[in-house]
Amino acid sequence: MKVLVTGGTGFIGSHVVADLLEQNSEIVVLDNLRNSSREVIDRLRSLASTEFDFIEGDVRDTQLVREVIATHAVDAVVHLAGLKSVSESVRFPLDYYDSNLVGSIALLNAMAAEGVYRLVFSSSATVYGSPESTPITESHPVGRVENPYGRSKYFVEEVLKDLVASDKRWSVAILRYFNPAGAHSSGAIGESPKGTPNNLVPILTKVALGKMDKVFVYGDDYPTVDGSGVRDYVHVCDLAKGHVQALDYIFSESGLHVWNMGAGRGYSVMEVLKSFESVIGKSIPHEFSGRRPGDVAECWADISKVKRELGWKSDKDIHQIVQDAWRWQSLNPEL
Ligand code: WQD
Repeated sequence: MKVLVTGGTGFIGSHVVADLLEQNSEIVVLDNLRNSSREVIDRLRSLASTEFDFIEGDVRDTQLVREVIATHAVDAVVHLAGLKSVSESVRFPLDYYDSNLVGSIALLNAMAAEGVYRLVFSSSATVYGSPESTPITESHPVGRVENPYGRSKYFVEEVLKDLVASDKRWSVAILRYFNPAGAHSSGAIGESPKGTPNNLVPILTKVALGKMDKVFVYGDDYPTVDGSGVRDYVHVCDLAKGHVQALDYIFSESGLHVWNMGAGRGYSVMEVLKSFESVIGKSIPHEFSGRRPGDVAECWADISKVKRELGWKSDKDIHQIVQDAWRWQSLNPEL
């Protein structure tokens, strides 16, 4: 199997590449390095002690993508390239629709032109909007999304549904991530957002390192176990394994398949913070502040469908997540 991984130098992408290399898959990575760096490629090559091809480029460059697919005899694509900050998408919606929606359509056109019809697509639990109930199953309504990032993912899902319905040659897996976190146990790859992080776990590691003063806990008055927001944190390495399993699946099954990728349980902000304190052995300065606009009280996955159909579940718990995130940050204080 020869796999094209778009966005392969990003947080999720680099872990998917690492896992594919571990399975001795032949891969080629395409990334425009807008939200990552070429150094990740060097780290992956040394981690896997194997060579693989990397092309700096954009999925919207259909001619380039066609050349990559033809030259490397690609059989399937794992599409992770895209922008993923909810707050940034509100400020720059056009950028998000161009990168995520136009980029996906350009990739699909290049794939079809080269006769490649197998795709694993990186989607997000954000397509569920504010959940009517939790845990959330794949049949929960989608599309009532309050931000351009989530809407761009929802639109691509709708494009994929229509495409598969129009042409039986397509085999597509849509993976709806909940809250990816953690890092590869080697500490060689991890989450290194450019600029100030938005997400809880990288903020915790930056505060623990002293690069940020404190964590602001956004809301202590939610109807949850301790008043703070509850989310489904899934270890990025478990998530990467889910991509490899989804790839295998679409080689034997055609059609459209949608799966939640979460741990299947929720942790509150304070539970994550306390878990982090126990891992690093020191307290984390924090202050309760108002709710963050757009946040929901709780959001976590029902993973019975992905367990039943794909045989996937996450094995690493929140302690492993914070332990691996801390190792990554400690070994890479400049990132
Ligand atoms: C987690 C919890 C916050 C920071 C986002 C995207 C989602 C997906 C994952 C791409 C919430 C609280 C956070 C802080 C806090 N990304 N928090 N203080 O918002 O659940 O999901 O990232 O697919 O699309 O929406 O993740 O890590 O920002 O927040 O109290 O400084 O931590 O309120 O309860 P979120 P998050």
